[in-house]
Formats: sequence, structure tokens, C-alpha cells
Amino acid sequence: MTVVRPDTVPQPATAPAAPAPFPTGFVWGAATAAYQVEGAAAENGRTPSIWDTFSHTPGKVLNGDTGDVAADHFHRYRDDVALMKRLGLKAYRFSVSWSRVQPTGRGPAVERGLDFYRALVDELLEAGIEPVATLYHWDLPQELEDAGGWPERATAERFADYAAIMARALGDRVGTWTTLNEPWCTAFLGYGSGVHAPGRTEPAAALRAAHHLNLAHGRATEALRTHLPAAARTSVTLNLHQVRPLTGSAADADAARRIDAVGNRIFTGPMLRGAYPEDLLRDTERLVDWSALVHDGDVNAIARPLDVLGINYYTPTIVSTPADGTGDTRNDGHGSSDHSPWPGSEHVAFHLAEGKPRTAMNWSVDPNGLHALLMDVARENPGLPLMVTENGAAFEDTVDADGRVHDPERIAYLHGHLAAVQRAIADGADVRGYFLWSLMDNFEWGYGYAKRFGAVHIDYATQRRTPKSSAHWYSEVIARHGLPA
Ligand code: NOJ
Repeated sequence: MTVVRPDTVPQPATAPAAPAPFPTGFVWGAATAAYQVEGAAAENGRTPSIWDTFSHTPGKVLNGDTGDVAADHFHRYRDDVALMKRLGLKAYRFSVSWSRVQPTGRGPAVERGLDFYRALVDELLEAGIEPVATLYHWDLPQELEDAGGWPERATAERFADYAAIMARALGDRVGTWTTLNEPWCTAFLGYGSGVHAPGRTEPAAALRAAHHLNLAHGRATEALRTHLPAAARTSVTLNLHQVRPLTGSAADADAARRIDAVGNRIFTGPMLRGAYPEDLLRDTERLVDWSALVHDGDVNAIARPLDVLGINYYTPTIVSTPADGTGDTRNDGHGSSDHSPWPGSEHVAFHLAEGKPRTAMNWSVDPNGLHALLMDVARENPGLPLMVTENGAAFEDTVDADGRVHDPERIAYLHGHLAAVQRAIADGADVRGYFLWSLMDNFEWGYGYAKRFGAVHIDYATQRRTPKSSAHWYSEVIARHGLPA
């Protein structure tokens, strides 16, 4: 008699395929960044970063908001870690304020500055939460900007020294390290459109910054490898744009190619393929002399192997080249400016996804973009583990009469995007974890405190923390290691 094993019993063709569960060991986390949450801007020897200078410059940040106090995480980290533990978080992605550790951006570290991160990490480990450290989340020490900033090659060398300091200080207790967060924003919003610090609007400088950020990543990875235990993992986090042409026209395909070049491949080329893409060099040759900018050996240094690639995703990037050539590369969802953050890609128009909900940032909600992005990256980089290091949404949250914050739109957003991650894993992408942006409301750069991305609400007048319904929902997802049916 033939015994039919239950798993070989043919299923009716109409049976819905149950999504494969999240893999064992899949990491459930939440993220923040130093300038957005810490506050304590002048404590323990910290000196201004470019974001202190920028936010204190009238007209740069909505409502004149600054990160002077922010969510006061510097003083409240113990309570915040206790809250993370109550929520059941398995990992916390935070960034280090470079000017808290090396106030001038060079020379020996300030021990009092390092002490904060030692204490934070110890608190996390004690709570059973894995620390994931990002070295650079946009807050360059002002002294380094005064010396020319990222458009100068020396900044990359300073960054490698700082990486070595951090690896020596925390290498025994932090297992996952990220060099840069979203270098596209640093280069092109900081030096191109100027909507981010340091607020410069110089397309050529923005391209030079991009190369030096790549070099900084490579040199820092080398420094981390030298000083970290062998088991530690190094990574970089990129805001890879999921670029789609609006129509099937050749002109729109070319717009997509150009935005993909200066939005994605300018980083993934040297980091993951060991070369800058030829079309990028062509598109931007009138702005920068790449052969003088890129020294012998740079690309090898940048292409050092990564253990993990971090991907931040919020919304797709839908582009066209209008027939009349009136496209406006400034209107791309990255804040308004008279200058383009897309050097070499003039006359591209940006579009919202048709018929999709929008967040308070006016970004389209489209989880399929995350699935497509993960699949593309997985296909192009077999064997490279991926991590969603940021995903989340700002909505107009309000505290109700009972002191609660109901945010069903955020729950829907997170549900949709986690389902997309789950589908990508089922389709073969090696995604090891997901970090919700953000653990708590914080300083949203040019928008100040006007945009709330947190799963935990912050009352800035009292610094009271209130987990929103999305925090409770995420907590349940973590506890069940999967989405509700
Ligand atoms: C990406 C950035 O890394 C983070 O700092 C920012 O707050 C979120 N996007 C939302 O805009």
C-alpha cells in the first residue's frame, strides 16, 4: 500500500498559499538617530554638528525647531530601554553623535562622550535587546564642515579614525555596525538642494561629497574590520529608490535610468560592483572630473565586502520626462528648494502613485515597492544578507481624552510593508530583520517636530512617552513572530 505523506497530498488549486513564516532569528527592531532624539546638545563636551548650526539658522527648519532637547533620550535612555523591553523589541538601531565623541572631528576621543554610548549599550544588553550602531546619521562635526565638509577628501579619512575609536570603545559589546545612513541624503540634500545641513546648493560639490562618502564607508569598514572581533558584522544603510517610469515611453525609461544612476548606482556601483556606472559618469561629466576625483585604489577600498546591506524604504519613486521638457527634479518629495538634488538629471518629473493613500509627508503608501526593491537587490546580490533598517510613516496623531493615541493608518502601513517583507522572503530574498522608523516621535529634520513617525508618542512639553496603538500592535507581532491573520 502506498502511504501518502500529508505534505504530499495535492491541494486544490484554489487553496490560498499561506505565507511562509518569518524565519527563526528574524530580528524585530526599531530605529532612531542621535540628533533626532538625544537632545543634550551641549553636554559632556559635545560641540555643534552641522545640524545644530543649520537648525539654529532662521528659516531652515519649520517653526524654528532645533534638536537642542529633542526627545531628551540622552537623559531618559534608561526609561526608553525599559519601554523597548516592555514592547518586546529584539534590537535597537541608534546612531552615535560624532561631535559628542570627537568634538572637533579629529584627535582623541572624549571619554565622557563615549560613556553615554557605553551606558546605553549596557542597558540594552541587560534588557536582552541587540544594539545596532550607526556611525553617521547626518551630524558632521561643524569643524569638519568648516574645513570643507564631505566634498573634501580629508573628511573620509577623519571618518575612518572616528570609526576606529568607536570600534575600540564598543566592539566588545556591539555586534552589528553600520557606517553611513542614507549617504544619498547627506550628499544631495545637504550639498545639492540644500534642504538638509549644511544647506549648500552646489551640484558639483554634491557629487564630490558622494564619492567621499563612498570612500569614508570603505575606509571605515576597513577600520572596523581591524578593530572589531571577527564575529562582528559591518554594513551600510542605503535609501535605495525603487524607481519606476511613469509610462512605457523611451523618454520615461531614460528618466528612470538617470534617477537610478544618481539615486542608487552611484553608491551600489562602487560598494557592491567595484565600479562607478559608466552612464552616471557620462550624465555628470560636465559637473565633475571623475578621473581627478577618484584616485587609484579608491574603488577597491570602497568595495570591501559587507556582511549585511541595510535598506530604508518609505515610498516608490515614479518618474517621467515630460514631452515639453518642463520636468522639475526639485519636486521629488524630499522637501522644497529652488535647487535640484539630482545633478545631471534635469527635466525629470516626480509623481505620486495613483490611487494610493498618502502619509503626512505626502508620500504614497505602496508596499509593493518594498517587495520589488528587496527582490531586485536580492537578485543582483546573491549571498548578501539584507536588513530593512527603516520603514514607517508619519501621520497626524492626536492624543484622545483618555490620553491614548489611536493610529490605525500607521498599523495599516506597517502591516502592508511587513507582509511585503514576508512575501519577499518567501520569494527567496534573504531578509534578516526589520526596524520600524521610528521607536518614538522625533526631530524630523527640515520639518522639525511637525511630523511624527513614532510608534511611541512624545509630548514635547512634558517628555511623556505614550505608546500608540501601533506600538501595541507591533509588540503583538513580535510576540507571535508574525503578522495577525
Ligand atoms: C530616513 C532617515 O534616515 C531618518 O532620519 C528620517 O527621519 C526618515 N527617513 C523619515 O524621513
